[in-house]
Amino acid sequence: MASGTSRDVVGRGLRVLGRAIREQPRIFAVAVSGSVLFGLMVIASAYVVGAVIGKVVVPAVARGSVTDGALALAAAALFGISVLRVVGIFGRRLGAGYMQYRLQATYRRRVTRRYLDLPLAWHHRNATGTLLSNANSDVEAAWYPIAPLPFAVGTLVMLVGAVVSLFLTDWALALVGLAVFPALFALNVVYSRRMAPRQARAQRLRAEVSGIAHESFDGALVVKTMGREAQETARFAARAGDLRDALISVGKLRGVFDPMLETLPSLGTLAVLVVGAVRLRQGAITVTELVSVAFLFTVLAFPVRAIGWVLAELPRSVAGWDRVRRVLDATGEMPYGEVALDPATPAPATLAFHDVHFGYEPAEAHLPGTEVLGEVTFTVPAGKTVALVGPTGAGKSTIASLAVRLVDPRTGTVTLDGVDVRELTAASLASTVALVAQVPFVFDDTVRANITLDRPGIGDEEVWAALRLAEADGFVAALPEGLDTMVGERGTSLSGGQRQRLTLARALAGRPRLLVLDDATSAVDPRVEAAILAGLRAPADGGAPASILVVAYRRATIALADEVIYVEHGRVVARGTHTDLLATVPGYADLVTAYEQAEQEREQTRTYDEVTPLTSGLEVEVDR
Ligand SMILES: Nc1ncnc2c1ncn2[C@@H]1O[C@H](COP(=O)(O)OP(=O)(O)OP(=O)(O)O)[C@@H](O)[C@H]1O
Ligand SMILES: [Mg+2]
Repeated sequence: MASGTSRDVVGRGLRVLGRAIREQPRIFAVAVSGSVLFGLMVIASAYVVGAVIGKVVVPAVARGSVTDGALALAAAALFGISVLRVVGIFGRRLGAGYMQYRLQATYRRRVTRRYLDLPLAWHHRNATGTLLSNANSDVEAAWYPIAPLPFAVGTLVMLVGAVVSLFLTDWALALVGLAVFPALFALNVVYSRRMAPRQARAQRLRAEVSGIAHESFDGALVVKTMGREAQETARFAARAGDLRDALISVGKLRGVFDPMLETLPSLGTLAVLVVGAVRLRQGAITVTELVSVAFLFTVLAFPVRAIGWVLAELPRSVAGWDRVRRVLDATGEMPYGEVALDPATPAPATLAFHDVHFGYEPAEAHLPGTEVLGEVTFTVPAGKTVALVGPTGAGKSTIASLAVRLVDPRTGTVTLDGVDVRELTAASLASTVALVAQVPFVFDDTVRANITLDRPGIGDEEVWAALRLAEADGFVAALPEGLDTMVGERGTSLSGGQRQRLTLARALAGRPRLLVLDDATSAVDPRVEAAILAGLRAPADGGAPASILVVAYRRATIALADEVIYVEHGRVVARGTHTDLLATVPGYADLVTAYEQAEQEREQTRTYDEVTPLTSGLEVEVDR
C-alpha cells in the first residue's frame, strides 16, 4: 500500500476516534485523567528514586550509616506515588473499558436496528454472513483502539512533562530526550503504516471466513446430501489458511518492531549515562539528577508503547468502521405515511392494485433492471377470497410482497380501503394486513412467543383460537409442554407442515383484515388446507371473515375462491371463477391439471405421516 494511503488511514482512524470521544466525552475524560495522573506519577517516581539514591543511599554509603528520618520520608514519598499510580491505572482501565464496550453495544444496536429499517431489496443484495460480521467483528474492530487510547493520550502528556522536567534539570540531557522521544514516536508511526494493509486484509478475511462458515452451516443439509463435505471443508480451509497467513504476517511485523521499540529507550538510557557522566564531571548536574533522568528513560519505555498500540489498531478500526458505516449510511428505507385506518372497525379490508409495474433492483447498479410485473390491476373486495394462480416465476410472491408493502411499485398504486399503502402509518399497516410467506420463518423460542411476537392483547385464549383456525391446535396440544415448548432454531423440531401452520396462526392471531397467503399451506395435507381456508372464510366464532389473497395450486383450494386471477410473466392474463378459467384458458387448465397429477404421484410414492419426535403420531404431514 502506498504511504499516501497509509497516511490517509491514520488520518481517517483519528477521525473515527474523534467520533468516539464525541459520543462518550465524560467517560473519556475520566480515563484520560487517570492516564495523565499515572504519567505524572511515573515522572515523579523517577525524581523520587533519584532523590533516594542521591540524598539517602550515596551519603549512607559514604558515611556507613543511614539517617532514619530521610529513609522514612523517601519510603512515604514512594508509597504515596504508588497509590496515586494505582488510582490512575484504575481510572484509565475502567474508563477505557466502559467506553469501548459502551460504544460496541451502541453500534451493535444501531446496526441491527438499521437492518430492520432497510428494505428487502437491500437485504437481497447482502449476504447473511456479511451482516453477521458487520454487527459483530466489524463493530468490535472499529472500537479496538479505544482500549489503549486514554493510555496513549496520557503518555503524550507525560512525554511533554518529561521533556519540560529534563529542561529544568539540564539542557544537555534534555537534548538526549528531544532526540529519543520523537524517534520513538516516528518508529511507532512507521510501524503502524506497515501494519495498515496487513490488518485491513486480516479484517476482510475474517468476514469472508465467517461468511463461508455461515453458508455451510446454513446449507448443511445440501452439503451432506450432495456429498459436498470435502469440497466445502476445503473451501473453508483455504480461506482460513489465508486468514492464518495474514495474521502471521501481522505477527512477523510485530516481531520486528517490538524489540526496536523496546531497545530505543534503553539506548536513550545509555546516552543519558554517557552525556550525564560528562555533565557530572563538569559539575553541571548532581548525582541525584543523573539517576533521576536515567531512571526516567527506563520507566518511560513501557507507556510509550501505548501510542504504537493505538496507531497499530487504526487500520483495522478504519476497515471495521467503513463496513459499519456502509450499513448505517445505506438508504432506501421506505418512509411510512400519516394516515391511520380506523383500527376499531373489524370489517374486512378491500385491497386494490391499479396498473402496478414493478422490477427488482439489479444486483449491480450498472445492470439494467428488468420489469417483473406490468399493468397489474385487480381487486380483493371486502370479505372475498381471491386466488392468485400462475406458473413458477410468474410474479405471485412479488404481488404478495406489494400487497403488504414489503416493496413499493415503480408506477401505479396499491390501496387498502382506498388509501395508498404508502400513506399509511406503520402501525395501521401492521394491524390491517398479514402475510404468510412462502418460506415459513420460525424463531428459536416457544410456540407461544412465536405466535404472539410480544404483540399486546394476544393472550393464551387468542393464541388457541388462532391455532384452531390454522388447524394447528392438535399438534400443539400434543407437544410435551404445549405452548411453552421450544421449537428449536428455525423450528427444526417441527415438520414442514407444522411450521407453516404455526406461521399461519401467527398471522391470524393479529386478527388482520386482509390475509395474504403465499403458498402458505403447500406442505399441509390437501384436506387440511381446504379446511383451513374454509374456516378463514367463515369463522366458527361468527366473527367477520378477513379478505384473503391466496397463492394456490390445488384445485380444492382454488375452487373455494370467489375469483381467480391467472398471471403469466408478470401480467394478469385471465380472471374469473375457477370453472370459467378451466373452460376458457388453456394455460390455466394445463397448470392446474399438471399440478394435480404431480400431487397424486407424490401421494403414491411417499407416506404422509412424516413423524417427527414432537408429533403425536396422529398428525398427518407432507414435506414438500
Ligand atoms: N429478490 C429478487 N431479486 C431479483 N429478482 C427477483 C427477486 N425475487 C424474484 N425475482 C424475479 O421476479 C420474478 C417473479 O418472482 P416471484 O417470486 O414473484 O415468482 P412466483 O410467481 O412467486 O414464483 P413461485 O411460484 O416459484 O414462487 C422471477 O423472474 C424472479 O426471478
Ligand atoms: Mg413465489
